[in-house]
Amino acid sequence: MAQENANYKGIILAGGKGSRLFPITRSVNKQLLPVYNKPMVYYPLSTLMLAGIREILVITNPGDHVGYEQLLGNGSQLGLSIDYACQDKPRGLADAFRVGRDFIGERNVALILGDNIFYGPGFQGLLADVSTRTSGATVFAYPVKDPHRYGVVEINDQNLAISIEEKPTEPKSSLAVVGLYFYDNQVVDIAANLKPSPRGELEITDLNDHYLQRGELHVEALGRGFAWLDMGTFDSLMQAGSMIQTVESRQGLKVACIEEVACVKGFISPAQLARLGAEIPNDYGEYLQERAAELIAERESGADG
Ligand code: DAU
Repeated sequence: MAQENANYKGIILAGGKGSRLFPITRSVNKQLLPVYNKPMVYYPLSTLMLAGIREILVITNPGDHVGYEQLLGNGSQLGLSIDYACQDKPRGLADAFRVGRDFIGERNVALILGDNIFYGPGFQGLLADVSTRTSGATVFAYPVKDPHRYGVVEINDQNLAISIEEKPTEPKSSLAVVGLYFYDNQVVDIAANLKPSPRGELEITDLNDHYLQRGELHVEALGRGFAWLDMGTFDSLMQAGSMIQTVESRQGLKVACIEEVACVKGFISPAQLARLGAEIPNDYGEYLQERAAELIAERESGADG
């Protein structure tokens, strides 16, 4: 049985200029760059899949959808439904809910930034818990040493948000708001009425502040054993690749392998996983075939027992 989350649709925001990565991103969209052995977009996509989300919209810059469609198609090979929409210029993160309005329809929606990686124990369980919440908004807080670079949330001793600010010069806490957000359907109207900030962007933080003012902003903590990375700079891109290489070569297991996740979540069969592996003539493909064989054996022994 597929471990599906019927409550939420998902959006991956994969536009932006990527100017901190020029000249690399002059000709290639940032979220298609390699992070060790896979395109960056695999990491946020696998996070939505781990949350059980199967209907996904990828928002790209004009023209860039071609590369994403070549990579991911309509998602059916992964048991997903993937649509594409274009953001004609980077108006800010909250613009995702204007661009994605028709896609969202009457449903709840999770937004993930295309350059965010999440990796750590208990994450799938946390995503499952958050996905059962069908009203209000949920953000995730992560302690960092440079909070002024992020959205910053201040919480009280009951873990309730008391303030949220975008890149404050004097942060009220060390808790960064990471690039993964869960919203009820009110988000569409809140985003439609949002005004651009002084820097000219439709800020996700202003949107979250609307929920906070209504007492409907939930904050989940990501603890110190957890890895959250965003990859906006040369150094952070390199660090993310090194981290993935280190974990994968130590464990012999792949991180954010969307084909494997699709099978483990029951979106595709092990036979389909093996077919996807056979199409990739290198050790990534071999890994998919090995995992398919293991999953078949596990299921057979489960059926016997
Ligand atoms: O990574 C978490 C942080 O992401 C949060 O703590 C901040 O509150 C949030 O504003 C955001 O800050 P950044 O400065 O990292 O956002 P950035 O402009 O780099 O955009 C993040 C990603 O979204 C990036 O991959 C490009 C994409 N993007 C960005 C904008 C503004 C779009 O696709 N369209 C856009 O309009």
